[in-house]
Amino acid sequence: MTATPVIELDGIAKRYRIGDGWFTALDDLSLRIDANEYVAIVGPSGSGKSTLMNLLGCLDVPDAGQYRLQGEDVAGLDENRLAVARNRAIGFIFQSFNLLPRASVLANVVQPLVYRRMAGAERRRRALDALERVGLADKLDNLPGQLSGGQRQRVAIARALVTRPRILLGDEPTGNLDSSTTASIMRLFDALHAEGQTIILVTHEAEIADHCRRSIRLVDGRIAEDRRQPGTGTRHV
Ligand SMILES: Nc1ncnc2c1ncn2[C@@H]1O[C@H](COP(=O)(O)OP(=O)(O)OP(=O)(O)O)[C@@H](O)[C@H]1O
Ligand SMILES: [Mg+2]
Repeated sequence: MTATPVIELDGIAKRYRIGDGWFTALDDLSLRIDANEYVAIVGPSGSGKSTLMNLLGCLDVPDAGQYRLQGEDVAGLDENRLAVARNRAIGFIFQSFNLLPRASVLANVVQPLVYRRMAGAERRRRALDALERVGLADKLDNLPGQLSGGQRQRVAIARALVTRPRILLGDEPTGNLDSSTTASIMRLFDALHAEGQTIILVTHEAEIADHCRRSIRLVDGRIAEDRRQPGTGTRHV
């Protein structure tokens, strides 16, 4: 028996209305990602990487095709049911962090759990675990503006992890960071992968793509290349 893929796209299309015409950002895209894969999405600017991540993360819906998330068809869900599917399965790390500026580090990380029926003490315990994981247990009361860029990114990662999602999605999660901060965040992703996490990262950086076991190159909204790296086992920076 083959296991259900965590993500299955079949003939996905996404178009944007531009003036009188349409721009096709994703074109008849099919893709299967299994549990515990570690995938880099690469390709030139404008090739559709963020559009694809937004669909995978249930932040947007396709115009055509099927998206099965853990076996459930999500392409046709309305906004509320899409939000539930997202909260249950996905941790999304935005390039621009998307933290609440007036909420503390702890409050930011707790936020995805507020939508769940979970006791406050349990929510806090989970948020503390996630912040410890990213090395920020000493910054609970800081506001995002009182953190460095790398620390803010780690808060965003803790927030993505706090729901213990099956799938971790990152759109350029190290895009604005220096090389040593990038290295420490990649070590964290490597460790999560070794524990069984499914990880999909958009990146411009070859060093990051090299961490991943599979590299999918988009060109003009299509998959131009889908390559698996030889070798297994966790690699280190
Ligand atoms: N809301 C929108 N309306 C119209 N066109 C859009 C919209 N969002 C994206 N596009 C177009 O779709 C294409 C793909 O955009 P996308 O953001 O997915 O690219 P990307 O691969 O993430 O690029 P980058 O590496 O620069 O982040 C681009 O040509 C972009 O102009
Ligand atoms: Mg992008």
